[in-house]
Amino acid sequence: MKLTLKIWRQNGANDKGKMQTYPIDGIEGDMSFLEMLDVLNEDLINKGESPVEFDHDCREGICGSCSLQINGEPHGPDRLVTTCQLHMRSFKDGDTIVIEPFRASAFPVIKDLIVDRSSFDRIQQAGGYVSVNTSGNTLDANAIPVNKQDADQAFSAAACIGCGACVAACKNASAMLFTSAKVSQYALLPQGQVEAATRVENMVRQMDLEGFGNCTNTGACEIECPKGISLENIARMNREYLSASIKG
Ligand code: SF4
Ligand code: FES
Repeated sequence: MKLTLKIWRQNGANDKGKMQTYPIDGIEGDMSFLEMLDVLNEDLINKGESPVEFDHDCREGICGSCSLQINGEPHGPDRLVTTCQLHMRSFKDGDTIVIEPFRASAFPVIKDLIVDRSSFDRIQQAGGYVSVNTSGNTLDANAIPVNKQDADQAFSAAACIGCGACVAACKNASAMLFTSAKVSQYALLPQGQVEAATRVENMVRQMDLEGFGNCTNTGACEIECPKGISLENIARMNREYLSASIKG
């Protein structure tokens, strides 16, 4: 395949940045999107030009670092896949592909396509943990009965990989889907009840402090989420928050 890539280049947070066009040839349908960028970068390096910086780690849909806005959609045109799992067979010969970083003021650009998502880490640090009694008479976690439906829903919420596609998809750059997944995975389990009230308040406070927008129930986050995190988690977080506020 021959393609035209229009890629956002930005030399650090203070640079204005601009789109740059790169023709590319010899791309196979079985290549992943990141392998296609590897081909481009090898070519740029051979020509003595600076390669396009992009984030990646596992290349297996697990780590959440390969966050790219592709033709206006986080992680590109396919559903329930991360950018590293997107294959070039989803495009056709002659296509123009526009590649940008995730856009949100809480995700400042570090360089080219890499954004700083440490705001997500700070939301996690505000409440994404459980306290465990380590005095010696700790109850074995496997001995605590958990309703099957709750266990399944907690497991589904825990599938969130923190990629940030929900924020990039949202017109308000809201982080409600991410935060609600993190709140839900603990709220549904008995082990998560120790900090239940303070957790939801602290995580929502940190989310607001980071500058994420509010949720207006558009639902774009759920559609673009590569892990199928459900909007039901946002409803659950709102209930948890209301209950924590009433308890004071
Ligand atoms: S909720 Fe989905 S889109 Fe948002 S960070 Fe988690 S995995 Fe990514
Ligand atoms: S590189 Fe880890 S999810 Fe894509």
